[in-house]
Amino acid sequence: MKQLFIAVSVFALASCCSNQQSADQWTDAEIDQKIEEILPQLSLDEKVALCHAQSKFSTPGVARLGIPELWYSDGPHGVRMEINWDDWGHSHWTNDTATAFPVLTSLAASFNPDLAFEYGNAVAEEALYRGKDVMLGPGVNIYRSPLNGRNFEYMGEDPYLASVMAVPYIKGMQQNGVAACVKHFALNNQETWRTTVDVQVSDRALREIYLPAFEAAVREANVWSVMGSYNLYNGQHCCHNAKLNSILRNEWGFDGCVITDWGGATDTKESAENGLDIEMGTWTNGLTSSTANAYDSYYLAKPYLEAIKKGEIDSKTLDAKVRNILRLMFRTNMAKNIKHGRKGNAEHIQTALNIAREGIVLLKNDNEVLPLDAKTTKKIAVIGENATRSMMGGGSSELKTFHEVSPLEGIKSHFPNAQIVHSMGYASGPEIYGHVLPSRLNADSLQKAALEAVKDVDLVIFVGGLTKAHEQDCEGGDRRSLDLPFGQNELVEKILDVNKNMIFVLVDGNAVTMPWLDKVPAVVEAWYGGCEAGNAIADVLCGDVNPSGKLPYSFPVKLEDNAAHSFASEEVYPGLAAVDAANNHKETYKEDILVGYRWHDTKNIKPLFAFGYGLSYTTFEIQKADVKVASGKVNVKATIANTGKRDGAEVLQVYVGKPDSKVARAVKELKGFKKISIAAGASAEVSVDVPVEKLAFWNEESQKWEVEKGKYVVYVGTSSDNIAHTLEININ
Ligand code: GLC
Repeated sequence: MKQLFIAVSVFALASCCSNQQSADQWTDAEIDQKIEEILPQLSLDEKVALCHAQSKFSTPGVARLGIPELWYSDGPHGVRMEINWDDWGHSHWTNDTATAFPVLTSLAASFNPDLAFEYGNAVAEEALYRGKDVMLGPGVNIYRSPLNGRNFEYMGEDPYLASVMAVPYIKGMQQNGVAACVKHFALNNQETWRTTVDVQVSDRALREIYLPAFEAAVREANVWSVMGSYNLYNGQHCCHNAKLNSILRNEWGFDGCVITDWGGATDTKESAENGLDIEMGTWTNGLTSSTANAYDSYYLAKPYLEAIKKGEIDSKTLDAKVRNILRLMFRTNMAKNIKHGRKGNAEHIQTALNIAREGIVLLKNDNEVLPLDAKTTKKIAVIGENATRSMMGGGSSELKTFHEVSPLEGIKSHFPNAQIVHSMGYASGPEIYGHVLPSRLNADSLQKAALEAVKDVDLVIFVGGLTKAHEQDCEGGDRRSLDLPFGQNELVEKILDVNKNMIFVLVDGNAVTMPWLDKVPAVVEAWYGGCEAGNAIADVLCGDVNPSGKLPYSFPVKLEDNAAHSFASEEVYPGLAAVDAANNHKETYKEDILVGYRWHDTKNIKPLFAFGYGLSYTTFEIQKADVKVASGKVNVKATIANTGKRDGAEVLQVYVGKPDSKVARAVKELKGFKKISIAAGASAEVSVDVPVEKLAFWNEESQKWEVEKGKYVVYVGTSSDNIAHTLEININ
């Protein structure tokens, strides 16, 4: 009996202390104890060295004590190729390939948190194999403008969706002892002037729209690191912003490391005192202007050391940083049980394919032209540069992948008996050092060849969209237009004059206009699907997979229908061209909390396609829905029937609004969703719980969350613009 008692008490001790750590790792208490043992052994120089880069993607350890270096890698979609020690160049190793997973927009479109967990787990296994301790993702910045060059790296316009999809990604990653680094904290919603735009935004919009995904990452996923963003918020750089740091540390209880975006630190004292732990990528050029090590001129390097020695900055700020950094190490490269990972294995590739498949959104399917019948689809013309173009670029989320199945290859493998021709139709032109030059190919001859190719075929599959080049879906610049580039729209119209049987497959990571929409029978949004993109697209086109994706953001009919652009004011986007005294561009988010469908619903502006929208090859009906409030939760129970002829999956979406609220509110906000697979002809009951506290708004006077009493409206549907049941509840 005694043995049993001891066993139980030890187990109880271990399990009660380990907050969300797997049993085989150090507990927080053990980590804190080890930190206190190490701290007194470190010299001042060694402590300061830990707080800044020693190379482009690593920070030093303490060699004499056997404390290892920390290695960081991009990005959210897989482990980036090796970058040089001192510059952004590729090192051109031969062993730095990786599985390329679909972009996070595609993951968000799956509305499947289980896939997010698998995603994070797979990327972490590849990171371990490549010797990386910190993966620089997921990116969760809210989709505010359709022009933002990095929307493809993020998870849409709704803070609840981004939260629910980011948390499992982080948990799946960190269970392997690899740190996620949720980014970019905060308000980095564009690429234009990203290092000097100074965002002004109301507390409500900050708390209700732009911070929730970061808050969920900290409070629900216990994220081990956060990346400060380049921009300013209320006049102070986000990498060392007193207000954001206070929210992060004091309100949310974050115990990890704040890491700059690469070059995000701009001031020693602010970095020391506003919670920055690790400075990366600062743009010093000490390597050429002096023989001294450029890293010594970092804000948290010699200047910091000197300021502490002179007593200008309290050395306690340094010990706080070192504690956070050592904690990050005991969770990663000094974990109790180091894992070794794997890469390029069948499971990872299957995960990439599964996500790409479930992320695909069927936007239009007149007369069920899709799925294609291989028996009657004999001659296919595949038109478009995106049918063959590699999509592994885009800035820091670039990847060197083992393989990349193009849409054309996927279509060929899925229609082996069809006669398939490909014609580019248009060309995007080469990209030289971040500038896309006009194509050397002759546009007329490309168009003529395409019009020839579509003449006597059964079907035209137009694979168009955007590219990962500058001022497209790419870091470092925003798009200049909502339209498809390179003359695609004109080419589509000309093709339709020759052959009306067209399916448009969009390969992109952003909303686009579709002036030809009424004439094109079917449209599929395929995003950037990673190494198995072509197979996922072909699986859907041939019907092996019934599409179940939903749009993670609204597609406006025209740019001015988008909230940020509706003001037609440079102060609202992209910020005032004239810089202020501090040489920054002031930008004011005047749309406030009305972002995305919140704007469309509340201003009655019909989008081209709505948030949460996506068709299926079958049909679903929400036959009934009930709601009740009990034990602090709003519970919605609905019965969904698959009224079509194919098995499929639907996403039940629960939105809540408060028409008589004492504060301005959007008509409705997403507060719950559940994806469910239902066999043809069957029905299923779905239950969605919404904690009452999630109905709160941020009270700017009390600076607290407040749940208003009284009536709320609960909208139950399968898209933000397809509500099947409207129910009422009372919160007292
Ligand atoms: C880049 C990006 C950030 C990336 C970092 C390292 O500028 O903004 O997302 O992780 O620098 O490449």
